Amino acid sequence: MNKKRVLSGIQATGKLTLGNYLGALNTWVKMQEEYECYYMIADLHTLTVRREAEELRKNTLNLIAMYIAAGLDPENNTIFIQSHIPAHSELSWILGCYTYMGELNRMTQFKDKSAKHADNINSGLFTYPVLMAADILIYNADYVPVGEDQRQHLELTRDIAERFNSIYGETFVIPEGYTKKEGARIMGLQNPEAKMSKSSTNPNDVIFLEDEPEVIMKKFKKAVTDSEGIVKYNPETKPGISNLMEIYSVITGKTKEEIEKEFEGQGYGFFKEAVGKAVVEKLKPVQEKYKELQENPEYLENIYRKGAEQARIIATKTIEDVKRKVGLVI
Ligand code: TRP
Repeated sequence: MNKKRVLSGIQATGKLTLGNYLGALNTWVKMQEEYECYYMIADLHTLTVRREAEELRKNTLNLIAMYIAAGLDPENNTIFIQSHIPAHSELSWILGCYTYMGELNRMTQFKDKSAKHADNINSGLFTYPVLMAADILIYNADYVPVGEDQRQHLELTRDIAERFNSIYGETFVIPEGYTKKEGARIMGLQNPEAKMSKSSTNPNDVIFLEDEPEVIMKKFKKAVTDSEGIVKYNPETKPGISNLMEIYSVITGKTKEEIEKEFEGQGYGFFKEAVGKAVVEKLKPVQEKYKELQENPEYLENIYRKGAEQARIIATKTIEDVKRKVGLVI
């Protein structure tokens, strides 16, 4: 049986949000049935913004715990830490020599991040997409589940792979994005025009996966709506209510029409409470498992050591092939 291969990763930047969960992890969990999956912690990418060392280490372990708590089966997936496979960095250097400054200059995330971290526009921030390309291409991944914000990086990855292949012959699989239509984009509760982001300055904007049930309920109660008083889906004119419907829809599996019917004639207060409860219920087992795993660092270490061993087998094959092709003595 030849399963298609999947690779994805999340940076170890801190607490995950409901957006990460419903947008990314939930999709990953579904993909594990059908594909051969590699899920990594992108710890090297995390260094592009200045971090506390201890904090990064802690976040990395917590993220592994969250991967598993969210439902990734460590027996069936390769869960690993990016920096444990030095071949990613080696391939990144080589691919950087096949990537143009002009291409990297066009990346909107680089522009956004440079504006946000104007005091630290380091070259890692600039070459970030090349390392991401290496992450993907080194496993010859067929599919890469990513959010909208990573689409451009994936396009670049494909361009780099095609360029390399056309010079040296078939080397890399050309990866495809995998974006789910539903739930891929959860917006902030206070500012539903912008993606729910852990770096939001308003804590009520974001549901963290670690939030206590009362906190979650409170944040949903405070969620921004509109003055129409009708639960109806229209992201343009009713971004707040539509976002809440989106969340409810992903969790319950109900369609927008079904939700509109369910809450016909009910006030927003009632609806917000129902969404809050659905989220609390959905997160309860995840939170319990997460706490349990955090208390068991040896188990987590076992997982990421084993994951690195598995990942290394494929990564080594690819990097040796690439080195040979470009003319390095191996
Ligand atoms: N850049 C991605 C993000 O910030 C994380 C990432 C790193 C990634 N390498 C990857 C995602 C490879 C998919 C595939 O979200």
